Amino acid sequence: MIIAVDGPTASGKGTIAKALATHYGLPHLDTGLLYRAVGRQVALNGGNPDDAMDALAACGFADSLLDDPELRSEATGGLASRVSVHAGVRQALYERQRAFATQAGGAVLDGRDIGTVIAPETPVKLFVVASVAARAARRHAEMLAQGRAASLEGIAADLAARDERDRNRAQAPLRAAQGAVTLDTSDLDRNAAIAAAIAIVEALR
Ligand code: C5P
Repeated sequence: MIIAVDGPTASGKGTIAKALATHYGLPHLDTGLLYRAVGRQVALNGGNPDDAMDALAACGFADSLLDDPELRSEATGGLASRVSVHAGVRQALYERQRAFATQAGGAVLDGRDIGTVIAPETPVKLFVVASVAARAARRHAEMLAQGRAASLEGIAADLAARDERDRNRAQAPLRAAQGAVTLDTSDLDRNAAIAAAIAIVEALR
């Protein structure tokens, strides 16, 4: 069974994907981390994330970069969103994601284009959404818990800008795949969101 979990940043898709992986005993891949690694590598190279050649050159990042905590920062998320518009970058990361998705026994992948591009054949597709206000509030609480200063308005503006870029790009834009079930987590706490996701998977598998 391949479980595809797509949705915008801070929608709860990562939490849901991890919980589904634990529940079904499947390996999990956070595909956003791959794009974040490319964005981070461009920065380390002193390159320009909007330049296709600079972005492509960064796709050969070392696997050890995936453990860099800086990958989780808002700044790196913004760089990831910028490098991810390039077709060459998406192609360079495709085989790795496809191999993970099709491994024997199944897998859970979360990202933006799992249901549309990486594993369109799977019947088990979730599209996880939440309002910008709910997502900004979650991200804000997360950052405060980590002792990082943050403005709610600034976070909301960054999220909205990232959504806009992810939805309107030519390559693999963020959208619900054919047959995906949409789960709105705006008013759900963590446990309720996970329970709702399991119910959807049970209905689709
Ligand atoms: O999910 P996360 O916030 O880590 O993703 C960072 C960025 O990587 C997204 O804003 C998106 O532009 C890009 N991405 C993508 N396709 C994926 C996963 C992430 O384009 N499958």
